[in-house]
Amino acid sequence: MAGFGLGFQSPGEETHAVELAVRGRIPEWLSGVLLRNGPAKFEVGGTGFRHWFDGQAMLHRFAIGRGRVEYANRYLDTPSSQAVLQERRIRYQEFATDPCRNMFARFFTPFLRSRPVNPNVNISRFGDRFVALTETPLPVEFAPDTLATLGVVDYDDRLGGQFTTAHPHQDPVTGDLVNYVTHFSRRSEYRVYRQRTDGTPQRELLGRHRVDEPAYMHSFAITARYVVLVEFPLVVNPYRLLLSGRPFIENYRWKPERGTRFVVMDREDGRVRAVLSGPACFAFHHINAWEEKGRLFIDLCAYQDSSIIEALYLDTLRAGGPLPQASPMRYCLDPEAGTVTGEPLAGESLELPRIAYQQRNGRPYRYAYGVGSRDGRTDDFLNQLVKIDVRDGGTLLWREEGCYPGEPVFVAAPPGHDAHGAEDEGLVLAVVLRSATASSYLLVLDARTFQEVARAEVSHAVPFGLHGIFVRHQLRSGTRGEFGS
Ligand SMILES: [Fe+2]
Repeated sequence: MAGFGLGFQSPGEETHAVELAVRGRIPEWLSGVLLRNGPAKFEVGGTGFRHWFDGQAMLHRFAIGRGRVEYANRYLDTPSSQAVLQERRIRYQEFATDPCRNMFARFFTPFLRSRPVNPNVNISRFGDRFVALTETPLPVEFAPDTLATLGVVDYDDRLGGQFTTAHPHQDPVTGDLVNYVTHFSRRSEYRVYRQRTDGTPQRELLGRHRVDEPAYMHSFAITARYVVLVEFPLVVNPYRLLLSGRPFIENYRWKPERGTRFVVMDREDGRVRAVLSGPACFAFHHINAWEEKGRLFIDLCAYQDSSIIEALYLDTLRAGGPLPQASPMRYCLDPEAGTVTGEPLAGESLELPRIAYQQRNGRPYRYAYGVGSRDGRTDDFLNQLVKIDVRDGGTLLWREEGCYPGEPVFVAAPPGHDAHGAEDEGLVLAVVLRSATASSYLLVLDARTFQEVARAEVSHAVPFGLHGIFVRHQLRSGTRGEFGS
């Protein structure tokens, strides 16, 4: 197995708050918690999950303050993980694993199968409540200080839908959370909603869009006025989902002849202003979007097709199968002319993109951070961190031999700490797997120069994560206060 295979292995034990050895000097102003989520349990009683995205969710917590770092991890406690960790069996359907082979059982378990969740993708906040998210619209709340699972957040509304994204946006104008659900039925539709940030789990429908064959959309775009659902031509017949007997994602079909459809919905009245067609591509992640003089600009990490999903089956990954690379692309939508044009933002590959979200989400921006593959090669896992100046394609790279970084989280420097208002004044935090020592470390980079500031060593290999957030500690009179975003 290639060295990066350690990133797809389950850790032996949970880790309870150990202090990490720090090399370098972490700035005093960096005070808070990096919370991360990702698949971490892949084997079950002699069998195993099939796909990276099937692994049982583990939360990771890097508490940073006064130059010190403490690390803990903990599995989410869900019906799905209880079956895996205690009963040592797979009971519930995951992204690409379905234990329910029997048609009779499938027919009578749709409700059961919609309840258990394995939210292993992302972390968000509903006001002061912290939730782990996946593509089943049932967030799981947890305590950010202990990582203890608090329970499924049941929505108090009638929005419906069986699929959502783990990438809700914050409305750049109101601050509300915005997301969509796909409602699969004879009359399938996307339902775009907003959710107030006061912690109330109640969603308000903003608009809907009928669709015969819903697309697999892992994220979407938001601007000051619009939501843009980018329908890649990886689509599903809803009946197939119910009747095929195959795991969720294996019901989707790649239909490049459909092209990519950009559904532009006005959040003011929920009306779809335009559906524009562009060349076929596939993406998991949007980078940013904004509108300017009647046109919309959509930046995303584009693959030529959906073969990346097959490449992320665990057998293929562990065998070192080719890993397709995503290119950072900009699509310019002109609703009046009915045109879509695309151009690459840089020459490096880019995945798991992050920006200075609080400052630039839905607005023109300059810098994107992400992971990529050295020289765009497909025979290794993601092995470098990338910073792109999207204005001119300028690129900075960080890499170390035999090391595999995860999603880089940008943390803006607070005012008064050598910050002069530049978008990239701050730090980038990434968990890196070092194959030679079978261990990981939290890497701290200067976001401006992309040079290392410090690292904090974990004694074991941390499985590759997907997404996370940094939550600042607000210092009041020298004491720790409430969490603040
Ligand atoms: Fe994602």
